[in-house]
Amino acid sequence: MSRPKIIVTRRWHPEVEAVLTERFDTTLNEDDHSMSVAELQDALQSADAVLPTVCDKVNAEVLGADNIRAKILGSNGVGFNHIDLDAARAAGLTVTNTPEVLTDCTADLALTLLLMVARRAGEGERHLRNGEWTGWRPTHMMGTSVTGKTLGLVGMGRIARAVAARAAHGFGMKIVFHDPFPPRAEDIEGLDATQCGSPEEVFARSDFVSLHCPGGADTYHLIGADAFAAMKPGAFLINTARGDVVDEAALVTALQNGDIAGAGLDVFEQEPSVSPALLEMENVVLLPHLGSATQETRKAMGMRVVENIEAFFSGETPRDKLV
Ligand code: DGY
Repeated sequence: MSRPKIIVTRRWHPEVEAVLTERFDTTLNEDDHSMSVAELQDALQSADAVLPTVCDKVNAEVLGADNIRAKILGSNGVGFNHIDLDAARAAGLTVTNTPEVLTDCTADLALTLLLMVARRAGEGERHLRNGEWTGWRPTHMMGTSVTGKTLGLVGMGRIARAVAARAAHGFGMKIVFHDPFPPRAEDIEGLDATQCGSPEEVFARSDFVSLHCPGGADTYHLIGADAFAAMKPGAFLINTARGDVVDEAALVTALQNGDIAGAGLDVFEQEPSVSPALLEMENVVLLPHLGSATQETRKAMGMRVVENIEAFFSGETPRDKLV
């Protein structure tokens, strides 16, 4: 039997691309450009599997193409709000994602943002590089202590729990959380985490609020003006989840009004665009969606896609099947 034809929508970790090329009839995106709707449709019409990433909008328009040949979308990433799952199902496609392998990496980055924004690390580095540092003095760049503070988690899935473990065991933080689908008791054992009855209770109790809910219609603008009003004035918002969970305009207003103390953001509502006002603010740490961006994790994510599509083409149910 001939090898399945695979189209990969962006450049992937080189070792994963080598495996894909060896095992499948693979077309790579040599110049790593972002594919248009027409290119994604063409990929679906000409390959047995299309391997998108979280930056490809595989929406109803893309999936509405005529004569789709592809049978599986092996998405590289854990989030799947970029894929219209109903439209994929209607088009007869199986869809998989890459859970678990990026949990630690993303949790590390949430803590990076938390520490950076609390301790004014981005601001301090800019200050030093700009030649503005005149030396140590007792009042210079005083930030906010992290140890012993309360961390509020919105969503208590794998990544949130990994953040909680780091924060509780590394920094002695108290953990409060809300999740409409609460974790099993054994999954939060040892974290001394307090479950709140609503997101509002999390906002009111936390010194740091870190977002770990999925993106999509159910969580769109979950963090807006009301949420900022409910947070402590000295609170910091950390977002490594999805940009549109936060109403970015309301965040700008809250920061300008001093309703919260700062924000650490890895994701944005209109990536790769960032609200210009945020770029001007010293109390905001901004990263370009780096949550899973380590050599080890990107390789593991790619290999998880390989595992999923190999299972599919062997007639088995892929481990990470979403639809
Ligand atoms: C994901 O996997 O959903 C991240 O946003 C990218 O690593």
